[in-house]
Amino acid sequence: MTASSVVPHHVAIVMDGNGRWANKRFLPRLAGHKQGVESLRRCVRACIQRGVKVLTVFAFSSENWNRPAEEVSGLMSLLASALGREVPSLSAEGVRLYFVGERQGLSDKVAAGLAQAEQATAHNERLVLNVCFNYGGRWDIAQAAARLAARGEPITEASLHAATALAHVPDPDLFIRTGGEYRISNFLLWQSAYAEFFFSPSLWPDFDEAALDAALQDYASRERRFGQTSAQVQQVAASQVRA
Ligand code: IPE
Ligand code: IPE
Ligand code: MG
Repeated sequence: MTASSVVPHHVAIVMDGNGRWANKRFLPRLAGHKQGVESLRRCVRACIQRGVKVLTVFAFSSENWNRPAEEVSGLMSLLASALGREVPSLSAEGVRLYFVGERQGLSDKVAAGLAQAEQATAHNERLVLNVCFNYGGRWDIAQAAARLAARGEPITEASLHAATALAHVPDPDLFIRTGGEYRISNFLLWQSAYAEFFFSPSLWPDFDEAALDAALQDYASRERRFGQTSAQVQQVAASQVRA
C-alpha cells in the first residue's frame, strides 16, 4: 500500500471565506454564500469519487447569529432554497443527509425542511453528508452532558460520546479549514481530538477538486500515532501488510 492510497473515511470542513470571495468582486456577501453552495455541491461529488464515506461541513455556527440581520436571514433563505433544489439530485447520487445542530431557534419552515430532507435520503449509503447548521462544539458537549444528566446516567467518555450530535459517524480523520485562518471556531471540539488538520488558503467558493486533492495528498503522507511511538505504529502497519 502506498501512502497516497490512504483515503480518509471522514472529512470535516470549515467552509470559510465566502464573504471575502464576494468582497473581492464588489458583490454582496450573500453572493459569496450562494457560490459557496455550488462549491459544496462540487466537493460532495469529488468526495464520492475519491471514496470518502463521511463529509461533515460547517455551514452556520452558534456565533453566526451575531452577524448583521440581513446576512442571517439571507443565509436562512439560502438554506431553504438549496434544500428544495439539491435534495433530489443528492439523493440520486446516494447521499444521506443529516443536519446537525440546535433546531430550536430555526423557523418552523426551515426545521421542517431539514427533517424532510433527512427522511427523503435516509435509505442512501454512498456518502453521509452532515451539514452542521446552528452548531457549535460547545453546544454539542453541553447538550450531550445535559441529556445524560436528565436520564440520571453516569458521565463517562463513552456515554458522553454516544450522546453527542455526531454519534452516528466515526470521528473525523481529516479536518480542513478553508479561507486561510488558523482556528477551529467552535467546530467539532470533542470529535477532532485525533483529526489531522489541514489549512487551505483557498476561499471556500474557490475550493475545487485540485484544492481537495492537495488536502487528501497531505493527509496521506501523515503518520497518525494516537499516542503511540512511530516504531509501534510501523510495526502494526507491517503486520497488516503480512496478514
Ligand atoms: C463562511 O464564510 C460561511 C459562514 C460563516 C456562514 P464567511 O461568511 O465567514 O466568509 P468570510 O470569512 O467573511 O470571508
Ligand atoms: C466558521 O467561520 C463558521 C462557518 C464556516 C460556518 P466564521 O467565519 O464564523 O469563523 P470566525 O468568526 O472567523 O472565527
Ligand atoms: Mg469567516
